Amino acid sequence: METPYQNHINKADFDHVYEPAEDSFLLIDALEKDLEYLKKKNPTFCLEVGSGSGVVITAFGMAFPQTFCISTDVNLKACVMSKQTAAYNKVNLDACNMDLASSFTNNKFDVIIFNPPYVVTDSDECGGTDITASWAGGTKGREITDRLLNMIPKKLANDGVFYLLLIEENIPDEVVQIMSSHGYMSETVVKRKVRNEQQLVIKFFM
Ligand SMILES: C[S@@+](CC[C@H](N)C(=O)[O-])C[C@H]1O[C@@H](n2cnc3c(N)ncnc32)[C@H](O)[C@@H]1O
Repeated sequence: METPYQNHINKADFDHVYEPAEDSFLLIDALEKDLEYLKKKNPTFCLEVGSGSGVVITAFGMAFPQTFCISTDVNLKACVMSKQTAAYNKVNLDACNMDLASSFTNNKFDVIIFNPPYVVTDSDECGGTDITASWAGGTKGREITDRLLNMIPKKLANDGVFYLLLIEENIPDEVVQIMSSHGYMSETVVKRKVRNEQQLVIKFFM
């Protein structure tokens, strides 16, 4: 998969929107590793929750030009940047300013992607709509992630796949248990140690 051009973004814009980092690129690596698997699924709808700069959903859209790409973010500036990143790379993206996937009532997505705010913080740091929403994950760094986990059965198509980036502090085994209780199998797609952080991408499917 190609890395999208981001030359349109000013460095100062990253004071307000998450700057693509190793975790963003690990998620793209996971999608690339699963490219043949995803091609066989021939996805109609792909949703990235928390798209930030838009680099991940744009990479997906470049590889799957026939797929409708949709993104959400609580940070309005991130929605604007995602839309611009997609446009700059000739990807058609609907970028929606919303909490997780809460306003999609009747839609089921074939692919859902999430690189959440995963840093362990106090609960009261978590839940903002500015740059703090990029990293502040509350208890176990999972407060935002766990809310999405409980939405997945309603938002993911039965033969769909959900890619989630986690770090060890998020206790991935617990996430696997939660998803198993919703009927999902899981598989670790990629794992990488970045400085002192063990990052991994797990996919969930029926
Ligand atoms: C770690 S950043 C990832 C950004 C981008 N996907 C990437 O990989 O570079 C997490 C993103 O999730 C967004 N976010 C946090 N809470 C959210 C929520 N409740 N609903 C939607 N987006 C949220 C943040 O604003 C931020 O853009």
